[in-house]
Amino acid sequence: MITIKEYSSKYAKSIRDIWVSRSVWGNTAIKKDLTPEEANKKFTMEGTVSFVALKKEKVLGAGRLSLGRGSRSHCAEFVIFVDENVRKLGVGSMLLEEIINAAKKKNISRLELSVFEDNKPAIGLYEKFGFAREGLRMRFLQRGNELFNEVLMAKFL
Ligand SMILES: CC(C)(COP(=O)(O)OP(=O)(O)OC[C@H]1O[C@@H](n2cnc3c(N)ncnc32)[C@H](O)[C@@H]1OP(=O)(O)O)[C@@H](O)C(=O)NCCC(=O)NCCS
Repeated sequence: MITIKEYSSKYAKSIRDIWVSRSVWGNTAIKKDLTPEEANKKFTMEGTVSFVALKKEKVLGAGRLSLGRGSRSHCAEFVIFVDENVRKLGVGSMLLEEIINAAKKKNISRLELSVFEDNKPAIGLYEKFGFAREGLRMRFLQRGNELFNEVLMAKFL
C-alpha cells in the first residue's frame, strides 16, 4: 500500500537520490549535484510543507509546497517528483492531492507552478487536476546548452 506522510529528515538521502536522477533534474529547475543536507534544507525551510510517498518505508516520491509571503501570501507554488521506476501508478496524483489539501488548510487560494513545455507527463498531471495554462515564457529555461519554453499554470482553490 502506498501512503503519503509528512516529510521528516530521515527521508533526505532517499529524496536526494530520486531528485538527482536524470529524469527529475532534467525536467525541473533543480541542480543535479544536490547533497542530502541541501535537500533536507529545502524540504524543511520556513514557509514550506513537504510530503513523501512511501511503500512500507521506501520513498517513491516527494512533493514540496512553498507558501508565498506579503502581497503573495494567498499564493503557493509546488514541485512534485516520483521515482522513474514507479511512474504512471498514481503516486504523483496522490502527492498532488495532498499538496492541494495542505494549501487549502493554509488558506491558499491560488496554487501555481511552472514547467518545461516539453514535460508532457507533468502537464498531463496538472491538467487532470484542473490547472490552467496562464502563459508561456519563451526560451526561459536551460537544459544543457538548449533553451526551452516555460509554461505557467495555476489553479484557484
Ligand atoms: C510528473 C510526475 C510527477 C507524474 O507522476 P506519476 O506518478 O507518474 O503520475 P500519475 O501516475 O499519478 O499520473 C497522473 C496523470 O498524469 C498524466 N501523466 C502521467 N504520466 C504521463 C505520461 N508519461 N504522458 C502523458 N501524461 C502522463 C496523466 O494525465 C495521468 O493520468 P492517467 O493515469 O489517468 O492517464 C512524474 O512523471 C515525474 O516525477 N516526472 C519528473 C519530475 C517532474 O517533471 N516533476 C514536475 C516538475 S514541474
